[in-house]
Amino acid sequence: MKALLDKIAARSAEVVVVGIGYVGLPLVVELAEAGFHVTGYDKDPRKVGLLSRGVSYIEDIPTSVVEPLVKGGMISASTDPAVLAKADCVIVCVPTPLNKTKEPDISYIVSATDEIVAHQHADMLIVLESTTYPGTTREVMVPKLTQGYALGERVFVCFSPERVDPGNKHYGTRNTPKVLGGSTPACIEVGRALYSQIIDTVVPVSSTDTAEMVKLLENTFRAVNIGLVNETAQIARRLGIDVFEVIRAASTKPFGFMPFFPGPGLGGHCIPIDPLYLSWKLRELKFQAKFIELADQVNSTMPTYVVGLVSDALNSHERSVKGSRVLISGIAYKKNITDMRESPAFDVIAELERRGATVEYMDPWVPEVDEHGVKMKSVEPTGSFAPYDVVVIVTDHDNVDYARMHREAKLIVDSRDVMRKHGGPASHIVGL
Ligand SMILES: NC(=O)c1ccc[n+]([C@@H]2O[C@H](COP(=O)([O-])OP(=O)(O)OC[C@H]3O[C@@H](n4cnc5c(N)ncnc54)[C@H](O)[C@@H]3O)[C@@H](O)[C@H]2O)c1
Repeated sequence: MKALLDKIAARSAEVVVVGIGYVGLPLVVELAEAGFHVTGYDKDPRKVGLLSRGVSYIEDIPTSVVEPLVKGGMISASTDPAVLAKADCVIVCVPTPLNKTKEPDISYIVSATDEIVAHQHADMLIVLESTTYPGTTREVMVPKLTQGYALGERVFVCFSPERVDPGNKHYGTRNTPKVLGGSTPACIEVGRALYSQIIDTVVPVSSTDTAEMVKLLENTFRAVNIGLVNETAQIARRLGIDVFEVIRAASTKPFGFMPFFPGPGLGGHCIPIDPLYLSWKLRELKFQAKFIELADQVNSTMPTYVVGLVSDALNSHERSVKGSRVLISGIAYKKNITDMRESPAFDVIAELERRGATVEYMDPWVPEVDEHGVKMKSVEPTGSFAPYDVVVIVTDHDNVDYARMHREAKLIVDSRDVMRKHGGPASHIVGL
C-alpha cells in the first residue's frame, strides 16, 4: 500500500480510465493536467482515434487543452485492454443504461471488471464512477477483484460518483466536491490520495454502498422535484395561473425553497434513468419506491402533454395537428450541448407524427440526427420561421434568434419560457 501511495503522491502512478465518454474524458484531462500519465481505454475506436490525435469530442473540453497533453505524452488512448496491465490506478466510467424493460443493465460494469481481472496485478486501486444501485461495487466488482488479492491490502476498491454537469460554466471536475466510498478504510485512504490530487474537496463516506446511494439520492431529488413542478404546471394551467411566475416569485423566499422549472420531459443519461436503478433495487427487497415511480410517471407524460398544447393551440387557429407543418426548436436534451440521449424531443416528434403532422427540427448544436427512429437534418437556424404552422420550443439553446422567431412564427408553443425575455406574451405564444 505504501508503494502505491508513494507513486500517487509523486504522480508517477499510471492511470487508466476505462470508458472515455462524457465522464471519462474530463477525468483523463484533469489527471493529465495534474501530472499523471493517463491512458484512456475505450472499446469505441472513433473516440480512441480522436483522443490519440489530441482531438476532443466533448464540448466542455476544448481540443486546445487536450492536444498539448497528448503531444506531450501525458495522455494516450487505446482500444486494447492489455493497457490495464501497466495500471496502478483504474477508474471505470462505463455506461449504466436501462434495458428494454427499464431494468438496470450493469453488463458494461461486469465486462470492464472482467477485463481488469484479466490484467490484474498486486497493488492496484480500482474506482467505479458509473452511476449504479447500492451494492454494485461490493456485490459485483469486489468478489471478482479479490480472487488472489486481499482487499485493502493488495487491491483497493472504491466507488466515487461522477457529478459532472455538462455545459456548466462554473463547476467542473476540480471544484465539484467528490464523494468517495471505500470497501475498507485503506481503500478510502488510497482513493483519497488519488482524487485529492485533482479535486479540491473529497468527501469520504463510510462505504461504497453509501457513495452509490448518495448519487441516486441527488438525482432522485431532481427527478422528484421536476415531477412536482411538471404537475404544478398542469395544475396552474387548469387554474389559469402562470406557473413560471409562481415559481419565480416563490424563489424570492430566502430559505426553504429551491426553484425547479417545468419542461417537456426529462432527458440525458442521468435523471430519467438513475432513480429507476434505485426503485429496481428496492423492488428486489419487496419495497415500492412510490415517489420515484410517481415522478417517473408524471415526467414521462410531459412530451404528450406538450403535444396536447400544440393540438389545442392549432385548434384555436382553426387548424389540426394532422396536415400541419411543425418545427421543433432544439433537439438536444438540454440547452447549449450536443447530447441527445433520452431527449424528450424524440417523444414529442413521434407523437406529432403519429397524429399526422409533418415535423422538421432546428438545432444549431445538432446538425443531423439518426436515432430513436428519427433521421433528419436540422433546418438552417437562419431560415424563416414563417412557413411553419407552429414552432415548438423543446430545448432553449442560447444561440437561437428568439426575437426573430417571435416576430416571424405564426404560433409558438414554448415549453421553456424563453419567449418571456424575447418579445413577451402575445396571442400567438402558448406557454406550458
Ligand atoms: N454524462 C453525464 O452527464 C453523467 C454525469 C454523472 C454520471 N454519469 C454516469 O457515468 C457513467 C458514464 O456515462 P457517460 O455519459 O460518460 O457515458 P458515455 O457513453 O459517454 O461513455 C462511456 C464509454 O464507455 C465505453 N465502454 C463501454 N464498455 C466498455 C468497456 N468494457 N471497456 C472500455 N470502454 C467501454 C463506451 O464505448 C463509451 O465511450 C454512467 O454510469 C453515467 O450514468 C454520467
